Amino acid sequence: MIVSFLILSSLMRLSVCDDLDYDTESYNLTIRMPDAVSEKPDSLLCHAVRIDPRESYIVSYIPHATADVAHHMMVFGCGGIANYEEPYWACSENYKNPETLVCDGGQKQVVFAWALDAPSFQFPKGVGLRVGGTTGINYIVIQLHYKEKFSPGRSDNSGVTLQMTRTRQPKQAGFYVIGTSGYIPPKHLAFPMETACEYTNDYPIYPIGYRTHSHNLGVVTSGYRIRDGRWTELGRMSPQLPETFYNVTNLVEVKHGDVLAARCTMNSMKRDRDTNIGPTNSDEMCNFYVLYYTYWQPNLEAQFCFRDAQTFHWNDYFENIPGTASSLVGISGAEKVIEMFDLNSRLPEEVEQLQETM
Ligand SMILES: *[C@@H]1O[C@H](CO)[C@@H](O)[C@H](O)[C@H]1NC(C)=O
Ligand SMILES: *[C@@H]1O[C@H](CO)[C@@H](O)[C@H](O)[C@H]1NC(C)=O
Repeated sequence: MIVSFLILSSLMRLSVCDDLDYDTESYNLTIRMPDAVSEKPDSLLCHAVRIDPRESYIVSYIPHATADVAHHMMVFGCGGIANYEEPYWACSENYKNPETLVCDGGQKQVVFAWALDAPSFQFPKGVGLRVGGTTGINYIVIQLHYKEKFSPGRSDNSGVTLQMTRTRQPKQAGFYVIGTSGYIPPKHLAFPMETACEYTNDYPIYPIGYRTHSHNLGVVTSGYRIRDGRWTELGRMSPQLPETFYNVTNLVEVKHGDVLAARCTMNSMKRDRDTNIGPTNSDEMCNFYVLYYTYWQPNLEAQFCFRDAQTFHWNDYFENIPGTASSLVGISGAEKVIEMFDLNSRLPEEVEQLQETM
Protein backbone atom coordinates (compact mmCIF):
# COMPACT_ATOMS: atom_id res chain seq x y z
CA MET A 1 0.00 0.00 0.00
CA ILE A 2 2.69 2.45 1.10
CA VAL A 3 4.98 1.27 -1.70
CA SER A 4 2.34 1.77 -4.36
CA PHE A 5 1.61 5.23 -2.93
CA LEU A 6 5.29 6.13 -3.21
CA ILE A 7 5.47 4.86 -6.78
CA LEU A 8 2.37 6.78 -7.70
CA SER A 9 3.61 10.01 -6.17
CA SER A 10 7.00 9.75 -7.84
CA LEU A 11 5.28 9.07 -11.15
CA MET A 12 3.17 12.16 -10.59
CA ARG A 13 6.21 14.22 -9.80
CA LEU A 14 7.87 12.94 -12.96
CA SER A 15 4.98 13.97 -15.12
CA VAL A 16 4.94 17.42 -13.53
CA CYS A 17 8.67 17.73 -14.26
CA ASP A 18 8.06 16.69 -17.85
CA ASP A 19 5.53 19.47 -18.21
CA LEU A 20 7.99 22.02 -16.91
CA ASP A 21 10.81 20.71 -19.12
CA TYR A 22 8.56 21.03 -22.11
CA ASP A 23 9.09 24.79 -22.04
CA THR A 24 11.54 25.83 -19.32
CA GLU A 25 11.73 29.17 -21.01
CA SER A 26 8.28 30.16 -19.75
CA TYR A 27 7.84 32.19 -16.61
CA ASN A 28 5.39 34.50 -14.94
CA LEU A 29 6.28 38.04 -13.98
CA THR A 30 3.86 39.46 -11.43
CA ILE A 31 4.01 43.20 -10.84
CA ARG A 32 1.93 44.72 -8.06
CA MET A 33 1.66 48.19 -6.56
CA PRO A 34 3.72 48.11 -3.31
CA ASP A 35 0.99 49.10 -0.80
CA ALA A 36 0.22 52.24 -2.75
CA VAL A 37 -1.90 54.94 -1.11
CA SER A 38 -4.07 57.17 -3.27
CA GLU A 39 -3.95 60.56 -1.59
CA LYS A 40 -6.52 62.31 -3.76
CA PRO A 41 -9.34 61.44 -6.17
CA ASP A 42 -8.16 60.59 -9.68
CA SER A 43 -4.54 60.04 -8.65
CA LEU A 44 -2.16 58.42 -11.13
CA LEU A 45 0.47 56.25 -9.46
CA CYS A 46 3.30 54.28 -11.09
CA HIS A 47 5.46 51.36 -10.03
CA ALA A 48 8.37 49.91 -12.03
CA VAL A 49 10.26 46.65 -12.18
CA ARG A 50 13.50 45.98 -14.00
CA ILE A 51 13.06 43.02 -16.32
CA ASP A 52 15.33 40.14 -17.29
CA PRO A 53 17.87 41.63 -19.75
CA ARG A 54 17.43 38.64 -22.09
CA GLU A 55 14.96 38.87 -24.94
CA SER A 56 11.50 37.78 -23.79
CA TYR A 57 7.97 37.79 -25.11
CA ILE A 58 4.82 38.74 -23.26
CA VAL A 59 2.25 36.19 -24.40
CA SER A 60 -0.62 37.02 -22.06
CA TYR A 61 -1.74 39.41 -19.35
CA ILE A 62 -3.66 38.51 -16.23
CA PRO A 63 -4.86 41.67 -14.45
CA HIS A 64 -5.16 41.75 -10.66
CA ALA A 65 -7.31 44.78 -10.12
CA THR A 66 -10.89 45.68 -9.58
CA ALA A 67 -13.06 48.39 -11.00
CA ASP A 68 -14.14 49.62 -7.58
CA VAL A 69 -10.55 50.70 -6.82
CA ALA A 70 -9.24 52.01 -10.15
CA HIS A 71 -10.55 53.40 -13.44
CA HIS A 72 -7.76 51.91 -15.49
CA MET A 73 -4.37 50.28 -15.46
CA MET A 74 -1.79 50.95 -18.15
CA VAL A 75 1.31 48.82 -18.67
CA PHE A 76 4.28 50.62 -20.25
CA GLY A 77 7.71 49.60 -21.44
CA CYS A 78 10.54 52.02 -20.61
CA GLY A 79 14.25 52.30 -21.36
CA GLY A 80 14.79 53.94 -17.99
CA ILE A 81 12.42 55.08 -15.29
CA ALA A 82 11.77 58.61 -14.16
CA ASN A 83 11.93 58.02 -10.43
CA TYR A 84 14.50 55.61 -8.98
CA GLU A 85 14.10 56.72 -5.38
CA GLU A 86 10.56 55.74 -4.48
CA PRO A 87 8.82 52.34 -4.61
CA TYR A 88 5.98 54.14 -6.40
CA TRP A 89 5.46 57.68 -7.55
CA ALA A 90 2.80 60.11 -8.77
CA CYS A 91 3.15 59.92 -12.55
CA SER A 92 0.95 62.79 -13.61
CA GLU A 93 2.85 63.38 -16.88
CA ASN A 94 3.67 66.96 -16.01
CA TYR A 95 6.50 67.63 -18.43
CA LYS A 96 7.73 70.57 -16.38
CA ASN A 97 8.55 68.12 -13.60
CA PRO A 98 10.53 65.15 -14.95
CA GLU A 99 10.03 63.29 -11.63
CA THR A 100 6.39 62.79 -12.55
CA LEU A 101 6.96 61.12 -15.92
CA VAL A 102 6.31 57.43 -16.46
CA CYS A 103 9.62 56.78 -18.24
CA ASP A 104 12.88 58.66 -18.01
CA GLY A 105 12.77 61.27 -20.78
CA GLY A 106 9.13 60.46 -21.41
CA GLN A 107 9.87 57.87 -24.13
CA LYS A 108 7.28 55.28 -23.20
CA GLN A 109 5.78 52.43 -25.12
CA VAL A 110 2.31 51.18 -24.36
CA VAL A 111 2.49 47.50 -23.57
CA PHE A 112 -1.10 47.14 -22.59
CA ALA A 113 -4.15 48.97 -21.25
CA TRP A 114 -7.19 47.96 -19.28
CA ALA A 115 -10.25 49.71 -18.20
CA LEU A 116 -11.06 47.64 -15.19
CA ASP A 117 -14.66 46.93 -15.94
CA ALA A 118 -13.82 45.71 -19.46
CA PRO A 119 -13.17 42.11 -20.42
CA SER A 120 -9.47 41.19 -20.63
CA PHE A 121 -7.77 40.63 -23.95
CA GLN A 122 -5.67 37.65 -25.04
CA PHE A 123 -3.00 37.52 -27.71
CA PRO A 124 -3.62 34.78 -30.26
CA LYS A 125 -1.38 31.72 -29.98
CA GLY A 126 2.10 32.29 -31.40
CA VAL A 127 1.95 36.07 -30.91
CA GLY A 128 4.19 37.76 -28.37
CA LEU A 129 5.26 41.29 -27.52
CA ARG A 130 9.06 41.39 -27.45
CA VAL A 131 10.77 43.11 -24.52
CA GLY A 132 14.34 43.07 -23.10
CA GLY A 133 17.20 42.00 -25.37
CA THR A 134 17.94 44.70 -27.91
CA THR A 135 14.43 46.26 -27.78
CA GLY A 136 15.47 49.12 -25.49
CA ILE A 137 12.73 48.09 -23.04
CA ASN A 138 14.45 47.47 -19.69
CA TYR A 139 11.60 48.26 -17.31
CA ILE A 140 7.91 47.52 -17.13
CA VAL A 141 5.88 50.24 -15.43
CA ILE A 142 2.31 49.81 -14.24
CA GLN A 143 0.21 52.93 -13.90
CA LEU A 144 -2.98 52.86 -11.86
CA HIS A 145 -5.60 55.55 -12.18
CA TYR A 146 -7.27 55.38 -8.78
CA LYS A 147 -10.84 56.50 -8.28
CA GLU A 148 -10.70 57.97 -4.80
CA LYS A 149 -8.59 59.23 -1.95
CA PHE A 150 -8.03 56.19 0.27
CA SER A 151 -9.36 56.19 3.80
CA PRO A 152 -6.65 56.03 6.53
CA GLY A 153 -4.90 52.67 6.78
CA ARG A 154 -5.94 51.53 3.32
CA SER A 155 -3.40 50.62 0.63
CA ASP A 156 -3.45 48.83 -2.71
CA ASN A 157 -1.65 45.95 -4.40
CA SER A 158 -3.31 45.98 -7.82
CA GLY A 159 -1.14 44.76 -10.65
CA VAL A 160 -0.67 42.32 -13.46
CA THR A 161 0.84 38.92 -14.16
CA LEU A 162 2.66 38.84 -17.46
CA GLN A 163 3.01 35.35 -18.87
CA MET A 164 6.40 35.43 -20.55
CA THR A 165 8.59 33.17 -22.61
CA ARG A 166 12.17 33.44 -23.80
CA THR A 167 11.30 31.31 -26.81
CA ARG A 168 11.11 33.44 -29.91
CA GLN A 169 7.49 33.62 -31.07
CA PRO A 170 6.67 33.22 -34.77
CA LYS A 171 4.61 36.42 -34.75
CA GLN A 172 5.42 39.59 -32.85
CA ALA A 173 2.92 42.14 -31.62
CA GLY A 174 3.25 45.84 -32.28
CA PHE A 175 1.33 49.12 -32.13
CA TYR A 176 0.38 51.59 -34.82
CA VAL A 177 -1.01 54.83 -33.39
CA ILE A 178 -3.31 57.00 -35.47
CA GLY A 179 -4.30 60.47 -34.31
CA THR A 180 -4.54 64.18 -34.95
CA SER A 181 -3.07 67.43 -33.79
CA GLY A 182 -5.11 70.66 -33.91
CA TYR A 183 -8.03 71.98 -31.88
CA ILE A 184 -11.79 71.72 -31.48
CA PRO A 185 -13.71 74.98 -31.82
CA PRO A 186 -16.49 75.55 -29.24
CA LYS A 187 -20.21 74.76 -29.66
CA HIS A 188 -19.96 71.89 -32.13
CA LEU A 189 -22.25 68.91 -31.82
CA ALA A 190 -20.09 66.63 -33.94
CA PHE A 191 -16.73 68.10 -34.91
CA PRO A 192 -14.73 65.62 -37.01
CA MET A 193 -10.96 65.24 -36.56
CA GLU A 194 -9.62 63.10 -39.38
CA THR A 195 -6.34 61.43 -40.20
CA ALA A 196 -5.00 58.94 -42.73
CA CYS A 197 -1.58 57.64 -43.78
CA GLU A 198 -0.32 55.28 -46.41
CA TYR A 199 1.22 52.16 -44.93
CA THR A 200 4.74 52.12 -46.39
CA ASN A 201 6.54 49.21 -44.73
CA ASP A 202 7.47 46.27 -46.91
CA TYR A 203 6.11 43.76 -44.40
CA PRO A 204 2.37 43.26 -43.89
CA ILE A 205 0.69 43.63 -40.49
CA TYR A 206 -2.48 41.98 -39.20
CA PRO A 207 -4.53 44.15 -36.82
CA ILE A 208 -6.07 42.12 -33.98
CA GLY A 209 -7.19 44.77 -31.50
CA TYR A 210 -7.79 48.49 -31.16
CA ARG A 211 -8.22 51.07 -28.43
CA THR A 212 -9.65 54.57 -28.65
CA HIS A 213 -8.52 57.43 -26.42
CA SER A 214 -9.95 60.90 -25.87
CA HIS A 215 -10.73 63.02 -22.82
CA ASN A 216 -14.13 64.65 -22.26
CA LEU A 217 -15.27 65.61 -25.77
CA GLY A 218 -14.84 62.34 -27.69
CA VAL A 219 -18.20 60.85 -28.73
CA VAL A 220 -17.09 58.13 -31.14
CA THR A 221 -13.82 57.16 -32.85
CA SER A 222 -13.55 54.89 -35.85
CA GLY A 223 -10.61 53.34 -37.71
CA TYR A 224 -10.29 51.81 -41.18
CA ARG A 225 -8.08 50.12 -43.70
CA ILE A 226 -8.56 51.56 -47.19
CA ARG A 227 -7.49 49.34 -50.10
CA ASP A 228 -8.28 50.15 -53.73
CA GLY A 229 -10.87 52.71 -52.59
CA ARG A 230 -12.69 50.19 -50.37
CA TRP A 231 -13.03 50.95 -46.66
CA THR A 232 -12.93 48.13 -44.12
CA GLU A 233 -13.74 48.98 -40.53
CA LEU A 234 -11.05 47.99 -38.02
CA GLY A 235 -12.92 49.35 -35.02
CA ARG A 236 -15.48 51.85 -33.83
CA MET A 237 -15.95 52.70 -30.17
CA SER A 238 -16.87 55.58 -27.91
CA PRO A 239 -13.84 56.75 -25.88
CA GLN A 240 -16.34 57.46 -23.08
CA LEU A 241 -16.78 53.68 -22.70
CA PRO A 242 -14.04 51.53 -21.10
CA GLU A 243 -10.78 52.45 -22.88
CA THR A 244 -9.38 48.98 -23.25
CA PHE A 245 -8.32 46.91 -26.26
CA TYR A 246 -11.22 45.44 -28.19
CA ASN A 247 -11.13 42.84 -30.93
CA VAL A 248 -11.01 44.40 -34.40
CA THR A 249 -14.30 44.45 -36.32
CA ASN A 250 -12.67 42.72 -39.31
CA LEU A 251 -9.49 40.64 -39.45
CA VAL A 252 -7.65 41.96 -42.51
CA GLU A 253 -4.12 42.33 -43.78
CA VAL A 254 -2.51 45.77 -44.09
CA LYS A 255 0.25 45.86 -46.70
CA HIS A 256 2.41 48.39 -48.52
CA GLY A 257 0.12 50.84 -50.36
CA ASP A 258 -2.93 50.40 -48.12
CA VAL A 259 -4.13 53.40 -46.10
CA LEU A 260 -4.89 53.46 -42.37
CA ALA A 261 -7.44 56.10 -41.41
CA ALA A 262 -9.30 57.27 -38.32
CA ARG A 263 -11.89 59.86 -37.37
CA CYS A 264 -12.67 61.21 -33.91
CA THR A 265 -16.07 62.87 -33.60
CA MET A 266 -15.97 65.50 -30.86
CA ASN A 267 -18.79 67.29 -29.05
CA SER A 268 -17.83 70.74 -27.72
CA MET A 269 -21.34 72.07 -26.92
CA LYS A 270 -20.37 72.66 -23.29
CA ARG A 271 -17.16 74.54 -24.17
CA ASP A 272 -16.92 78.25 -24.89
CA ARG A 273 -13.24 78.15 -25.86
CA ASP A 274 -11.09 76.30 -28.35
CA THR A 275 -9.93 72.95 -26.97
CA ASN A 276 -6.41 72.03 -28.08
CA ILE A 277 -4.99 68.58 -28.51
CA GLY A 278 -2.72 68.17 -25.49
CA PRO A 279 -1.91 66.05 -22.47
CA THR A 280 -4.02 67.50 -19.65
CA ASN A 281 -7.62 66.74 -18.87
CA SER A 282 -8.69 70.21 -20.04
CA ASP A 283 -7.05 69.46 -23.42
CA GLU A 284 -8.24 66.75 -25.79
CA MET A 285 -6.78 63.76 -27.55
CA CYS A 286 -7.83 61.93 -30.67
CA ASN A 287 -6.09 58.55 -30.74
CA PHE A 288 -6.85 55.20 -32.34
CA TYR A 289 -4.31 52.52 -31.32
CA VAL A 290 -3.99 49.52 -33.60
CA LEU A 291 -2.57 46.38 -31.97
CA TYR A 292 -1.29 44.09 -34.68
CA TYR A 293 0.91 41.08 -35.24
CA THR A 294 3.44 40.54 -37.97
CA TYR A 295 5.78 37.78 -39.15
CA TRP A 296 8.52 40.44 -39.54
CA GLN A 297 11.22 39.56 -37.00
CA PRO A 298 13.44 42.64 -36.43
CA ASN A 299 12.57 44.82 -33.41
CA LEU A 300 9.42 46.86 -33.86
CA GLU A 301 8.88 50.41 -32.74
CA ALA A 302 5.50 52.02 -32.35
CA GLN A 303 4.52 53.69 -35.62
CA PHE A 304 2.55 56.92 -35.78
CA CYS A 305 0.20 58.62 -38.24
CA PHE A 306 -0.80 62.13 -37.14
CA ARG A 307 -2.50 64.86 -39.19
CA ASP A 308 -3.56 68.42 -38.44
CA ALA A 309 -7.32 68.28 -37.91
CA GLN A 310 -7.75 71.85 -39.21
CA THR A 311 -6.17 71.19 -42.61
CA PHE A 312 -6.54 67.46 -43.26
CA HIS A 313 -9.96 66.23 -44.39
CA TRP A 314 -10.85 62.77 -45.72
CA ASN A 315 -13.05 64.38 -48.35
CA ASP A 316 -10.03 65.92 -50.10
CA TYR A 317 -8.46 62.49 -50.69
CA PHE A 318 -11.03 59.73 -50.55
CA GLU A 319 -14.40 58.59 -51.82
CA ASN A 320 -16.83 56.03 -50.39
CA ILE A 321 -16.40 57.34 -46.82
CA PRO A 322 -18.55 55.05 -44.67
CA GLY A 323 -21.78 56.67 -43.48
CA THR A 324 -21.25 55.05 -40.08
CA ALA A 325 -17.84 56.66 -39.40
CA SER A 326 -19.38 58.96 -36.75
CA SER A 327 -22.13 56.60 -35.70
CA LEU A 328 -22.75 55.01 -32.32
CA VAL A 329 -24.88 52.34 -33.98
CA GLY A 330 -24.02 48.85 -32.80
CA ILE A 331 -21.80 49.98 -29.91
CA SER A 332 -22.94 48.38 -26.71
CA GLY A 333 -23.37 51.04 -24.04
CA ALA A 334 -24.08 53.80 -26.59
CA GLU A 335 -27.18 54.95 -24.62
CA LYS A 336 -24.85 56.20 -21.86
CA VAL A 337 -22.89 58.25 -24.39
CA ILE A 338 -26.03 59.73 -25.95
CA GLU A 339 -27.21 60.77 -22.50
CA MET A 340 -23.77 62.12 -21.52
CA PHE A 341 -23.74 64.49 -24.50
CA ASP A 342 -27.46 65.19 -24.36
CA LEU A 343 -27.79 64.10 -28.00
CA ASN A 344 -31.46 63.13 -27.77
CA SER A 345 -32.85 66.60 -27.28
CA ARG A 346 -30.94 68.07 -30.22
CA LEU A 347 -31.81 67.31 -33.79
CA PRO A 348 -29.54 69.24 -36.16
CA GLU A 349 -28.22 67.36 -39.18
CA GLU A 350 -24.79 67.02 -37.62
CA VAL A 351 -26.12 64.70 -35.00
CA GLU A 352 -28.33 62.65 -37.24
CA GLN A 353 -25.52 60.39 -38.24
CA LEU A 354 -24.59 59.81 -34.61
CA GLN A 355 -28.06 58.54 -33.93
CA GLU A 356 -28.98 56.95 -37.24
CA THR A 357 -31.19 53.94 -36.59
CA MET A 358 -30.50 54.06 -32.85
C1 LIG B 1 1.53 31.53 -14.78
O1 LIG B 1 0.33 31.82 -14.10
C2 LIG B 1 -0.82 31.22 -14.70
C3 LIG B 1 -2.07 31.71 -13.99
O2 LIG B 1 -1.93 31.61 -12.60
C4 LIG B 1 -0.67 29.69 -14.66
O3 LIG B 1 -1.77 29.10 -15.29
C5 LIG B 1 0.61 29.30 -15.37
O4 LIG B 1 0.81 27.93 -15.27
C6 LIG B 1 1.80 30.04 -14.80
N1 LIG B 1 2.98 29.73 -15.60
C7 LIG B 1 4.16 29.45 -15.08
C8 LIG B 1 5.27 29.20 -16.05
O5 LIG B 1 4.36 29.35 -13.88
C1 LIG C 1 -11.82 38.17 -29.36
O1 LIG C 1 -11.26 37.28 -30.27
C2 LIG C 1 -10.72 36.11 -29.67
C3 LIG C 1 -9.97 35.33 -30.74
O2 LIG C 1 -10.50 35.48 -31.98
C4 LIG C 1 -11.84 35.32 -29.03
O3 LIG C 1 -11.33 34.15 -28.41
C5 LIG C 1 -12.50 36.21 -27.96
O4 LIG C 1 -13.60 35.55 -27.39
C6 LIG C 1 -12.96 37.52 -28.58
N1 LIG C 1 -13.41 38.39 -27.51
C7 LIG C 1 -14.56 39.03 -27.53
C8 LIG C 1 -14.89 39.88 -26.35
O5 LIG C 1 -15.34 38.96 -28.48
